[in-house]
Amino acid sequence: MDDIELVREAGQALEKAYAPYSNFRVGACALTPDGKTYAACNVENSSLGLTICAERAAIFAAVAAGHTRIDKVAVVGESTANPPLPCGACLQVMSEFGVGTVVVGTLGGPARAYGLAELLPRPFSL
Ligand code: THU
Repeated sequence: MDDIELVREAGQALEKAYAPYSNFRVGACALTPDGKTYAACNVENSSLGLTICAERAAIFAAVAAGHTRIDKVAVVGESTANPPLPCGACLQVMSEFGVGTVVVGTLGGPARAYGLAELLPRPFSL
C-alpha cells in the first residue's frame, strides 16, 4: 500500500464528510501493519464540541476491527491553501496506537509525509 493509494482512499472518504457547520470536509485512512485500511470522514454536530475529526474516526474504526497498532494515517482536505494538518487531539490518539507517519494531502493536489514525532514531539503518556 503506497502513499498515493492511501491518500486516494482518504479522498473517497472525504466525499462522505458531514460538515454542514464548517464546510471543511476531511477524509482519513489508517493503515495497519498487516496492510488493512480503515477510512472515515469528519462528522460534525450542532453541539459543536461533539464533532469528531476524520483521523480519529478512521483510527477508532481500525481499533473497533481489532487493531491496536497503526503504521500510517493519510488525511485529505479540499483546499490546497489549507491542508488538514491533524489537531492535537488526533496527534495524541495517533501516538497511542504507534502511528509513525502522517501523510497530509488535498484532493487532486500534492501530499506531504511527516513523522509523528515532528508534529507531536512530546506526547503525553501515563
Ligand atoms: N478536522 C478534521 O477532521 N481533521 C483535521 O485534521 C482538522 C479538522 C475537521 C473538524 C471539523 O469538522 C472541521 O474539520 C473544521 O475544524
